[in-house]
Amino acid sequence: MDKKILEFGTDILRSERFQTAKQVKHHKKHTVADHSIRVAECALRMGDALKKKGIEVEDSDLVRGALLHDIGMTEEKVHESVSFVKCFTHPRMGARIAEREYGANKVQRNSVRRHMWPACIIPPLFAAGWIILAADKYCSVKELRK
Ligand SMILES: [Fe+2]
Ligand SMILES: [Fe+2]
Repeated sequence: MDKKILEFGTDILRSERFQTAKQVKHHKKHTVADHSIRVAECALRMGDALKKKGIEVEDSDLVRGALLHDIGMTEEKVHESVSFVKCFTHPRMGARIAEREYGANKVQRNSVRRHMWPACIIPPLFAAGWIILAADKYCSVKELRK
């Protein structure tokens, strides 16, 4: 695991809710937890490349936003709902959990809330959100193919 994930996300990885995320199935053979760690690793790599092009982004926002982007799925009523509904409810619930339980800042909350764009109408506001969105789509396509 990338050491920046441990540097900025150890409290998330150790939390009770993230342990629940290890039990929540996502994209066929995966879980919300392993998918989210993969998205964080991918987001960090994309962030490094974009920083060289002058894009300003904080690694802490990439790690925490990515680890939390699907945390809304750990709520049973969200996870058990049909895909179409889940698509809209898990980012909303996730942003609430990110703020309440993990003290997420506005960049991280917005990244969680808007990661399903264009399914949700409003796109992310910050560079970190766009990177997490792209990393999530890339990882999701790869996971669904396996
Ligand atoms: Fe998601
Ligand atoms: Fe995701």
